Amino acid sequence: MNYEREKAMYYIGVDLGTSAVKLLLMEEDGRILNIVSREYPISFPRPSWSEQKPEDWWQQTREGIRDLLREYDRGLVGGISFGGQMHGLVVLDREGQVIRPAILWNDSRTTEETEYLNEEVGRDFLSGHTGNIAFAGFTAPKILWMKKREPENFARIHRIMLPKDYLVYRMTGVHATDVSDASGTLLLDVRNRTWSKEMLAICGIRENMLPRLYESYDCIGKIRPDIAKELGLPENVRVAVGAGDNAASALATGTVGEGKCNLSLGTSGTLFISSDHFHLDESNALHSFCDASGRYHLMGCMLSAASCNKWWTEEILGETDYAGVQSRVDEKRLGENPVFYLPYLMGERSPLNDPYARACFVGMTMDSEQADLTQAVLEGVAFACRDMLETARKQGLVIDRSRLVGGGAKSGLWQKILANVLNLKLDLLETEEGPSLGAAMLAAVACGKYPDPKEAARAIVRVKKTIAPDPDLAAKYQRQYEKFSGLYPALKGTFRALVGSMSCDK
Ligand code: XUL
Repeated sequence: MNYEREKAMYYIGVDLGTSAVKLLLMEEDGRILNIVSREYPISFPRPSWSEQKPEDWWQQTREGIRDLLREYDRGLVGGISFGGQMHGLVVLDREGQVIRPAILWNDSRTTEETEYLNEEVGRDFLSGHTGNIAFAGFTAPKILWMKKREPENFARIHRIMLPKDYLVYRMTGVHATDVSDASGTLLLDVRNRTWSKEMLAICGIRENMLPRLYESYDCIGKIRPDIAKELGLPENVRVAVGAGDNAASALATGTVGEGKCNLSLGTSGTLFISSDHFHLDESNALHSFCDASGRYHLMGCMLSAASCNKWWTEEILGETDYAGVQSRVDEKRLGENPVFYLPYLMGERSPLNDPYARACFVGMTMDSEQADLTQAVLEGVAFACRDMLETARKQGLVIDRSRLVGGGAKSGLWQKILANVLNLKLDLLETEEGPSLGAAMLAAVACGKYPDPKEAARAIVRVKKTIAPDPDLAAKYQRQYEKFSGLYPALKGTFRALVGSMSCDK
């Protein structure tokens, strides 16, 4: 008997996040063996700009794989796949060199290009050809920005790719992407899962500059022999192209099939509603994207979610003990906070689509304490999530429960606030991992361990606990939400006047 053959295979999931790359080692039955994470810098060279160096992603991913496998049998690794921050523009020249730092999803320098696309090309045209309108963080406006502001760089473009595709490219030499991530470029005809020739013409690019399209679970090849050797991996490790981070996270939370919902509180906050069919949001506030299981989803994305809490706790209070800071909040005062917080630290995407929006506290008096402001930050993010939920409900979608994942989901206080502000049952899962677990599942599918992503999710994902709203508290929060809802409309003009004169890209 061949003992080696009896051993379970391992799959690696790589989540290329905004502040760090997270790597996860999964056994074929879904058991998580190890998780490591390695940070890289993000730079904000000008107001509203947000950039990273693709080389940093790749260096940290390689180091991360070494760390991940240090105590495990590398020979058992069968496959690897990726989940990644979406929408980023990565451009390579003919020699395969990165032309300029990647422009990230939360960069809003493209106000002019976004306005041009929405107003002059027109929302109906965009939505008819891609399923979406332009948002400042999407890839197509960034390409237009580069064409106008950096023509010498634009002229050198040989390949365009998304952040996780750069890792795939370095690992395999293959220029590939998947339909879920490609959905966020505004270059994809989402309904038909093909590049839109009309959008390519508008952006002045050729199809051969773009990666070849695959489903997220497709195997696009094996890792390059030199990389396998360097990392001590077998040469036959299969690479599944992977997915955008939210689509990967949806798999890890079992959000596959008609009407399932997942709320993820990472740097960004996303509300992900899966569907078996293509569905267009008539108000264009939610994105209509392909998912990682061969189907579709509607998604709202707020740009600053857990990052508001990080900003408040670390930058403003100068603390790192999040639980300690939150323990000062008196739970009896939930639903009664006179202080409100608008969470628009990076402008806002869904549903406002307003790069000029800004964060602020409203309603403070001489009695206000630090704990009120801490509470307001957690509540403000929850109210903004509720805005996305209400937008989905206006589309006729019935949502009465959701899964909750991401760094923000770890706080018991925040879980309670969210369940009551949203008035939804929130399921917490046995494993709190999002995109990295989803990516490992895609690798397992590509290696034939599971017939498809839905089946992998069915076999692997388990609910650990459900947080149910309390009717009295939910009613209090309903009244608070109504007050919150008046704030942005009242301040919208002020935000534009404050920021507009500074023009987002100067
Ligand atoms: C989704 C989005 C963010 C990034 C963050 O549209 O912009 O969730 O993918 O990683």
